Amino acid sequence: MQRVKEIIEGFIADLDDAYVQELFAKIPAGKMLRSKLILQIVPSKEGEFLAAVIEMIHAASLLHDDVIDDAMMRRGVASINAIFGNKPAIMMGDILYSKAFFELTKLPHPIPQIVSNAVTLLSLGELLDVQLAKSFNTNEDAYFDMIYKKTASLIEASAKAAAILAGKESEKYGLYGKNLGLAFQIVDDILDIIQDASTLGKPALHDLKEGKSTLPYIYLYHALSADEKEKLLKLFKKDLSEEEKDWLKEKFTATGALERTKEKARILGKEAMAILDEEDERLHEIMSSLIERTY
Ligand code: FPP
Ligand code: MG
Repeated sequence: MQRVKEIIEGFIADLDDAYVQELFAKIPAGKMLRSKLILQIVPSKEGEFLAAVIEMIHAASLLHDDVIDDAMMRRGVASINAIFGNKPAIMMGDILYSKAFFELTKLPHPIPQIVSNAVTLLSLGELLDVQLAKSFNTNEDAYFDMIYKKTASLIEASAKAAAILAGKESEKYGLYGKNLGLAFQIVDDILDIIQDASTLGKPALHDLKEGKSTLPYIYLYHALSADEKEKLLKLFKKDLSEEEKDWLKEKFTATGALERTKEKARILGKEAMAILDEEDERLHEIMSSLIERTY
């Protein structure tokens, strides 16, 4: 993983801009899930290069996402928009994104197409997320369409591209990546509800306030009585009192909505693992540790 970080630092150094260096220094490395996945499929110099490109695209998307979401925290520290303001955050996103694309074109056909197409999906997914947040979404299909585009598409593309570099079956690894991405986002949406802010590195129980009725909320809504449904809808986009938070948490457990959501992530994981061979033991481990993670 160290090598991937060094390649990214090299890309930034190429830009020869002191302010960009200053902004970049304030972006902490994340879990590097995409790199782990890529290097597992293609443990080589080319794999490290692909991972660096993908991590830059991912970082760019988060810079924009934090502006869109008005998020002041990212990965446990102040976000770039919180420190420098929205304008530098947006431009830094564009710089990371375009530099990553310049480097991406050096990879063999059809990798640039696969990855650039995923970025279009990513952007369509973010737009859908914004649209869905206008009212309380109760539609499971709309949620899955959005998280596939917003999160899973880039992970799917990472796995496909890595498989092409390794001379492996790209469709099979792509499906694994897609399910890994879906499960990742679902678990993220569960953690927003059950974890505290210090563990998350961002505010807890915040999705509803942001207008995001994620899968646990969709399942909860359908499991509630008419009166309770009304109560839930009143909490949408509100700053929650301690009493309201307790009510929500109690209902999430009592209705089994959280457990049902977790089960959905596990099913996606199992589906992906069923199509992978025995020798991909590490990919099985990546999937299960991601699903059972607590942060
Ligand atoms: C985080 O979602 C956001 C994403 C995974 C994708 C964001 C994509 C864009 C802004 C499209 C633009 C892309 C580029 C490359 C410039 P979240 O808000 O649900 O998660 P969070 O709680 O971690 O913020
Ligand atoms: Mg966000």
